[in-house]
Amino acid sequence: MSDIASTPNPRQMSEEHFRFIADLAHKEAGLVFPESKAPLVRTRLNRRIRALKLPGYDAYCALLRSPEGARERRMMISSLTTNVSSFFREAHHFDLLRGEILPPLLEGARRGERLRLWSAGCSSGQEAYSIAMVLADLEPDYLQMDIRILASDIDLNVIETGRAGIYDAGQLANVPEEYRERYFQPAEDNGKEAVRIIEPLRRIVCFRELNLLHEWPMKRQFDVIFCRNVVIYFDAETQNSLWRKFEKYTAPGGWLILGHSERLSEDVAGKFVVAGPTAYRLSPTETA
Ligand SMILES: C[S@@+](CC[C@H](N)C(=O)[O-])C[C@H]1O[C@@H](n2cnc3c(N)ncnc32)[C@H](O)[C@@H]1O
Repeated sequence: MSDIASTPNPRQMSEEHFRFIADLAHKEAGLVFPESKAPLVRTRLNRRIRALKLPGYDAYCALLRSPEGARERRMMISSLTTNVSSFFREAHHFDLLRGEILPPLLEGARRGERLRLWSAGCSSGQEAYSIAMVLADLEPDYLQMDIRILASDIDLNVIETGRAGIYDAGQLANVPEEYRERYFQPAEDNGKEAVRIIEPLRRIVCFRELNLLHEWPMKRQFDVIFCRNVVIYFDAETQNSLWRKFEKYTAPGGWLILGHSERLSEDVAGKFVVAGPTAYRLSPTETA
């Protein structure tokens, strides 16, 4: 393990420190860090150690172990998660949403039915707002209907960014021109020019902190669940238990959309029909 100090030194990350941190990240958030990721873990946590003005990893791990370390355990998970996201990422899923998934669901919403969508592992909200833009484009009267998009993530920092809905204008690259004009307004972010999602669209997206490994407080099922590029960081066992939970939380005839490198395990895949690349649909007669 060349990137980890093998001799005890409180200022360096030893094998023991790395193991403790990797085990904690797995226990708390399902994240898997093989030894090859030690340099990444060290780079990200060195920042935390500096911010906390601690002398090194001995003190940092002691803090993580202590009852007072609850906040830092969350900050550590936040530092170790990968939050890369973008508007209209994996654009084919939004074509499917527009062409196949939403039209019948919006028909129902117009008749007064409840429509619920979920961006699970939403990062800073780009996925949830991309869903919202497609929906608003198809149904400009969306505010008059019972429509909500839940956007959840384990990381409070990204949740706050999503809730504010303020982005660097450079992030608009994949946003269709007419959507840029309709759903964004000019804004300022720490003195820099930025863009902000318009208020009506922000109103239908509800951001919540939620660790997918913990109990889910939602009582009802979702018509559409996006959980893309989240479980790739989990081991197979954690993935499998999540697939089973997602199946329970998908309404009959509902949709589960995964990231391009993610696949449902066989036992759960049998319950769904494959409806496009990493897009799955539960049978309309399936009950939870
Ligand atoms: C790479 S981003 C994916 C964002 C978006 N879904 C997309 O595809 O663009 C992965 C997100 O999953 C979140 N995440 C990781 N572990 C999680 C957990 N145990 N519970 C909830 N969210 C988690 C991370 O905080 C991160 O924001």
